[in-house]
Amino acid sequence: MTLIDGKETAQQIRLELAEEVEKIKKNGGKIPHLAAILVGEDPASDTYVRMKVKDCEQIGYKSTLIRYDADISEAELLAKVEEINQDEDIDGLIVQLPLPDHISSEKITFAIRPEKDVDGFHPINIGRMAKGLPAYVAATPHGVLELIKRYEIPTSGKHCVVIGRSDIVGTPVSILMSRKAYPGNATVTMCHSRTPNIPEITRQADIIIAALGRPEFVTADMVKEGAVVIDVGTSRVEDPSKKSGFGLKGDVKFDEVAEKCSYITPVPGGVGPMTRASLLYNTMLAAKNSVY
Ligand code: GUN
Repeated sequence: MTLIDGKETAQQIRLELAEEVEKIKKNGGKIPHLAAILVGEDPASDTYVRMKVKDCEQIGYKSTLIRYDADISEAELLAKVEEINQDEDIDGLIVQLPLPDHISSEKITFAIRPEKDVDGFHPINIGRMAKGLPAYVAATPHGVLELIKRYEIPTSGKHCVVIGRSDIVGTPVSILMSRKAYPGNATVTMCHSRTPNIPEITRQADIIIAALGRPEFVTADMVKEGAVVIDVGTSRVEDPSKKSGFGLKGDVKFDEVAEKCSYITPVPGGVGPMTRASLLYNTMLAAKNSVY
């Protein structure tokens, strides 16, 4: 069994991007610049956004963090998005979700110019991805594919079972795994909350991508010997042994499933660390106008 090390892979990607920044600097090109908007005081969102900005600084990108109180109006926020859309120095813009209830996440997400939508949430990017055109792919599906690619896991003709149909993970990952490319060319089955016989289906899988958000849902009896298991779940569970009082649990019962797998991602340290690296990757694409 090979343990897929997302932490190490993400670090490798950061190193590669930092080298690219050095080259850009030497050649007088455009230094990637990410802008992040954070509304309100949610501690988890605050931490995520600060980490994203710190990642940028570490690899030599420019970054701009814009903070607003939770009572900012939707119109004011839309005006800021439009201002950044027009700002030629800013390559990528993310608005951290969730937003306060009085602001429509959909309206804000749709207002970001697709060319700057490095989160890959805009319907134009999702549509382009579905059509196999160059697009910004959202951080988590991008991270999953990058792990498969860097560990050279064969996907062509394999049966890939995706559990979960969210529009930011299950749905895009299903589309990507079935497209005519590598990683891809797989026969994809998507399971969700209305699928009556999930274990029967997962037992036929060469590759399982678990993204339903239910801790330890995938057990050993659901996995074929030699399968590849990618765990996207990150549920917070109480853990008195931790200083913070909580730990992260994946969607896979790791200890028993790992014994049957050819490859498996741990939680934490698997897909999670890849998502921030994917945002940096997309921001580089934006700076180089590689997608549009
Ligand atoms: N909230 C949780 N994950 C994300 C993400 O990837 N992007 C944004 N903008 N908000 C999030």
